[in-house]
Amino acid sequence: QTIYLRDYAPVPVTVTHVDLSFRLDPKATRVQARLTCARQGPGDMVLDGEGLKTISVAIDGTAITPRIDGDRMILTDLPDAFLLETEVEIAPQDNTALSGLYMSNGMYCTQCEAEGFRRITWMLDRPDVMATYDVEIEADLPVLLSNGDEKGAGRWHDPWPKPTYLFALVAGNLVATSDSFTTSEGRDVALNVWVRPGDEGRTSYALDALKRSMLWDEKVYGRAYDLSVFNIVAVDDFNMGAMENKGLNVFNSRYVLASPETATDADYANIERIVAHEYFHNWTGNRITCRDWFQLCLKEGLTVFRDQQFSQDARGFATQRIGDIMTLRARQFREDAGPLAHPVRPESFVEINNFYTATIYEKGAEVIGMLRTLVGAEGYDAGVALYFERHDGQACTIEDWLACFAEATGRDLSQFMLWYRQAGTPRLTVTEDFNNGVYTLDLKQTVPDTPGQTNKSPMTLPLAYGLLDATGTEIRPTDVFEMTDRAARLSFNLPEKPVLSMLRGFSAPVVLEFAQSDADRLILLAHDTDPFTRWEAGRALAKDRLMRAVAEGAGFDAGWIDAVATLATDADADPAFRALALALPSEDDLAASLHGSGVVPDPDAIYIARRAASHAIATRLASDLPGLRAACATPGAYDPRAEDAGKRSLSATLLRLQTLLDGGAAARAAYDAADNMTDRMAAFTCVLDAGDTEVAARFEADWQHDRLVMDKWFMAQVAHAAPNDAVDVASKLTAHRDFDPGNPNRFRAVIGGLTAGNPAGFHRADGAGYAFLADWLLRLDKANPQTTARMSTAFDSWRRFDADRQDLIRTQLDRMAGTEGLSRDLGEMVARMLA
Ligand code: ARG
Ligand code: ZN
Repeated sequence: QTIYLRDYAPVPVTVTHVDLSFRLDPKATRVQARLTCARQGPGDMVLDGEGLKTISVAIDGTAITPRIDGDRMILTDLPDAFLLETEVEIAPQDNTALSGLYMSNGMYCTQCEAEGFRRITWMLDRPDVMATYDVEIEADLPVLLSNGDEKGAGRWHDPWPKPTYLFALVAGNLVATSDSFTTSEGRDVALNVWVRPGDEGRTSYALDALKRSMLWDEKVYGRAYDLSVFNIVAVDDFNMGAMENKGLNVFNSRYVLASPETATDADYANIERIVAHEYFHNWTGNRITCRDWFQLCLKEGLTVFRDQQFSQDARGFATQRIGDIMTLRARQFREDAGPLAHPVRPESFVEINNFYTATIYEKGAEVIGMLRTLVGAEGYDAGVALYFERHDGQACTIEDWLACFAEATGRDLSQFMLWYRQAGTPRLTVTEDFNNGVYTLDLKQTVPDTPGQTNKSPMTLPLAYGLLDATGTEIRPTDVFEMTDRAARLSFNLPEKPVLSMLRGFSAPVVLEFAQSDADRLILLAHDTDPFTRWEAGRALAKDRLMRAVAEGAGFDAGWIDAVATLATDADADPAFRALALALPSEDDLAASLHGSGVVPDPDAIYIARRAASHAIATRLASDLPGLRAACATPGAYDPRAEDAGKRSLSATLLRLQTLLDGGAAARAAYDAADNMTDRMAAFTCVLDAGDTEVAARFEADWQHDRLVMDKWFMAQVAHAAPNDAVDVASKLTAHRDFDPGNPNRFRAVIGGLTAGNPAGFHRADGAGYAFLADWLLRLDKANPQTTARMSTAFDSWRRFDADRQDLIRTQLDRMAGTEGLSRDLGEMVARMLA
């Protein structure tokens, strides 16, 4: 049941047009399909179907009794061109997996990526089969949507050939917020954001983000939209963030609906980013798609890179880039360092849904960024232009993509291809030396072993760096050194030892091992011209202190605390940057770094050390805190723009420090004064941090009618419980009348609130957190394997911890592995984590 990249073969018989008619019914939906089929090589036609009740099958009008073998229908002795007609019955109401056609709050919707279409009707459910579609929907509901252009009530035609995974259907009692956009090619496009009645007051930001995305893609990539309508639908029950179905994007409602009263700044930023991401897929994913699922990063890495560029333009380069790097390290570096490590282009899988990972998405985006650094902005534009011109309408591979850059720029990219093939985060070791007017840098790279891969080759590392002098003046502006060997040496003739600013902009996704002096780091933190390396210098100082506090019980030196205080009080620095610089490395980050340096991380000691560091900073800043917070005020009505969000973010960071000193008094006042959800959540979580849980009842009374706000309520209580209480709080919340494990947002709020939001609580020494997670995974697996498998990754760091915790986790992994009827999704994850 393992699928290999090397086994790829095109289909012998393909489908060029799909004609579908739906008669919707919760328990007995009828789907008639008429597939226009054409032979392109010798062999049988093998169609995919899962859980379908097959009513009839006919070829060119003649009924047949096909051979059905499990999830496959095998047709033999076929003519060169024919019409295959099938009728099946399905029950969307019973579809708790949220894959295929399912129901959410009385509304019908679909999710077909990666392999959900086979749960709707018999078809060649693979991305290299591209067909045009006609769809007819019959239902007693006011709004009937599918892909393409509307041809009459409930009738849709999509002229652009697409694979099954981009098919979508939505039917329900929905209302639209509408607008229009005229493309650079003069096409008038109707834009609609469809939501349940009552939610229409929360759609304007998504619609605005859509229009800005459309304009940006025209300006920056020369890509215009290609249908007369673009529909977005908000769905409450959704496994992922959103889906780029052609002309009919379906979104998790948390990434569409926003109002100042209900959404935080982070929600607004996510909505903007995800609306852009799905829209950008129209060219990178839909017009040019993937040949097979091993090429998933072809569309996802590129589209993430594009949405990151868009967000940098919309929100400011520095904070966006630093935020993206924090996400990459938190999620992808962790994945790359554990049993789930896999290449950006995997070579085998059991269940493709398990590969919608940080490696495919976030590392995939970094690989595009490195490519752009290596070939330059102009070379990148030329390569991209060639890609669109040559491959429009095709299902492609990573080789096709890289060939466009090799041809457009004349560069040999064969070593660069290793970024797609070799898993694991490269380690870059830097040592410096200054002697007799010569400054020498010795660089070494190694790529760690990962499951199934050892003895790796050196990679192409674009290393952006600069040099400062001892006063902080830049004496050598950014240069990119292309490291291709295992070792390299750079030397410079200089009058005095400079300060090295290495890996500017995080130009390669590596772990940098460089024992830089505190003095040099302080100069970088104060003066470097690159915002990432500035922030990183502060980060390194903090990490060094925290690791020593955990490993050796060391205290926090005044020199460091002073540096932090200087930045916190620097009124000339950008508030968003100050907030980022004040944030201490996460508990998970510290656990990973300690493990990497040969220390077994103790989750409780990490929690205590971080709290002690925060307390030391708070004490040093005590008299400044009220004034600093007052300076963050954003008078007037709430505005989600980045400038105000940065001030709110700094204000929240300062409130968190103040809470350590005043037992929550300021936070309680801030909670009462809050007039938007960003400030309210900041204050709410601070009050919870202070151990005051009364506030939760007030919050609930105010917001119990609102599903998205209540997700925040569920999550915050778990994430901000004291470590020893967290499992009990989570467990109690699963008994709350509004806890619905079938809703992925709610499940993630409570279970993820523990596993990701409260590491010390999850890793409670008696194993209660592990048992709690495994219990819920086993329960949800029967209903929704995709979300279950995703949540199981909380166990992937298990080998970092002490022998007792490892035993406790292994017990849970073994217990799951030994459970009968485990889904393919969870089964694969557990097997990989145990291997
Ligand atoms: N293509 C979607 C996006 O990234 C994600 C859909 C993933 N779906 C899944 N079942 N794994 O925009
Ligand atoms: Zn995507």
